[in-house]
Amino acid sequence: MSLLDRFSLAGKVAVVTGASSGLGVAFARGLAEAGADLVLGARRADRLEDTRRTVEAMGRRALCVPTDVAKPADCQALVDAAMAEFGQVDVLVNNAGIGTAVPATRETPEEFAQVIDVNLNGCYWMAQACGRVMQPGSSIVNISSILGLTTAGLPQAAYSASKAGLIGLTRDLAQQWGARKGIRVNALAPGFFASEMTETYRPGYLDAMIHRVPLARMGDPDELTTAVVFLASAAGGYVTGQTLAVDGGTTIT
Ligand SMILES: NC(=O)c1ccc[n+]([C@@H]2O[C@H](COP(=O)([O-])OP(=O)(O)OC[C@H]3O[C@@H](n4cnc5c(N)ncnc54)[C@H](OP(=O)(O)O)[C@@H]3O)[C@@H](O)[C@H]2O)c1
Repeated sequence: MSLLDRFSLAGKVAVVTGASSGLGVAFARGLAEAGADLVLGARRADRLEDTRRTVEAMGRRALCVPTDVAKPADCQALVDAAMAEFGQVDVLVNNAGIGTAVPATRETPEEFAQVIDVNLNGCYWMAQACGRVMQPGSSIVNISSILGLTTAGLPQAAYSASKAGLIGLTRDLAQQWGARKGIRVNALAPGFFASEMTETYRPGYLDAMIHRVPLARMGDPDELTTAVVFLASAAGGYVTGQTLAVDGGTTIT
């Protein structure tokens, strides 16, 4: 097998959560380009259909399963639908997430719990459901954040806790499932990438943050997608339990 062939996902089935907007759409497109068929999960069914059309236009198959990852039964139903359609799940990209910024003394229990429910618990329910059916050689990529490793000037206790928790979850599943199941589990910690989430930041925030970025710019989603394909494929075959920051160097400052 040539070095570049190791990045191929031909014959593989990849699940992407949060595939209705932003980075999840880029990941679905990139995994399809690498040869995978896709199972697309998120709550907005109409937006999932847009992603399905994009994937199918690239000559790959795609299945949309409206899913709220905060509900364990929805996560199991997504994987059941994937198995019924394709008979295998080789890759899970745990990308669904919500971002909030609320001063700690004002944050309600419900606000805090919702972020943990989606960003952390949702990844676990998805990993559990996939881990039950994945065969040796499979790979899980958890989309954490640089907020799991550092701070960025906003009051984000819930978001930061969820993303740091996801890094711990990544480590533990990697050690549980490495030798026993042959499943690799890694995390990406993205820096700043344009998406519907970053559109909600107050004007000027991202410009002010760029001084923290050694490469002095926001990331292009394709620069994150290449890291997803690396970790998802045989190219990353000896990498597990790791968190890779794709952040233009932000976390070294
Ligand atoms: N953009 C960045 O700079 C950046 C940086 C670091 C980390 N991240 C992480 O990257 C991931 C993608 O974010 P994005 O920037 O692409 O934001 P986005 O455009 O807002 O996308 C978030 C996605 O998550 C889905 N989602 C939210 N709640 C869900 C739920 N309960 N069940 C299922 N799906 C749900 C949304 O779909 P529905 O609304 O249709 O459910 C949407 O597809 C997130 O985990 C985020 O924390 C982003």
